[in-house]
Amino acid sequence: MSRKKIVAGNWKMNLDYQAGISLFSEITQMLKDEHRGNQEVIVCAPFIHLGALNKLNDVKEKLGVGAQNLHQADSGAYTGEISGSQIKSVGGKYVLIGHSERRSYFKETNEILAEKVDAAFRHHLTPIFCIGETKEQREDGSYFEVLKAQLEQSVFHLSSKDFERVIIAYEPVWAIGTGLTASPEQAQEVHAYIRKVIAEKYSQELADSISILYGGSCNPKNAESLFAQADIDGGLIGGASLKSRDFLDIVKVYNS
Ligand code: 13P
Repeated sequence: MSRKKIVAGNWKMNLDYQAGISLFSEITQMLKDEHRGNQEVIVCAPFIHLGALNKLNDVKEKLGVGAQNLHQADSGAYTGEISGSQIKSVGGKYVLIGHSERRSYFKETNEILAEKVDAAFRHHLTPIFCIGETKEQREDGSYFEVLKAQLEQSVFHLSSKDFERVIIAYEPVWAIGTGLTASPEQAQEVHAYIRKVIAEKYSQELADSISILYGGSCNPKNAESLFAQADIDGGLIGGASLKSRDFLDIVKVYNS
């Protein structure tokens, strides 16, 4: 199966302007020196960085820049928010939607996230749609239902033509920033389930073409065994994406 392999960094709310430029410059240089393969690399940075990073990006065939959130409206009186067209205007190509930190700290519901997904499509941004269960939901066994509902209520209204452009990221909440990682077997079980649910809704062919990334304490030590799983097509990397060496070592798992 020739699904796109993707390693995406999520810088979250880290790095001042200059620090972001330094890290991105290191990443572009290392990609020139060390990236050997077809894997796509994405950096999802704070809004303040997007324009500068896009200008600095001289390896656009390998590396794309994305945002971490967008507002569901196209413009208007939404003080402090950023729209899809604004992200697009500074060269953003991707946008994270549904990250668990947005769901929990900013009360983004499945319904709001569906509107954000539509906004991304209106502005030709590729959504990296995040789903994941909490520790309680894993322990009480409801995690399959929770993940299915997150998909059904926020992305399954899309036509198959749109859905084929979505990237899914499975990020178990209990593994984010905790140093606890899902085992390769646990992650594979969920990724296979997500693909099955997509096949039931759309088609097996479409499900087989969708990249599903794993996120949650992914690092250079565990990336190889995670990425070796049949239904894992890459990673969404938090902490380790803030260190160019670690991030590149994860990217290089896919070197050919
Ligand atoms: P960590 O890799 O720091 O656990 O973060 C994962 C994440 O939330 C990426 O979006």
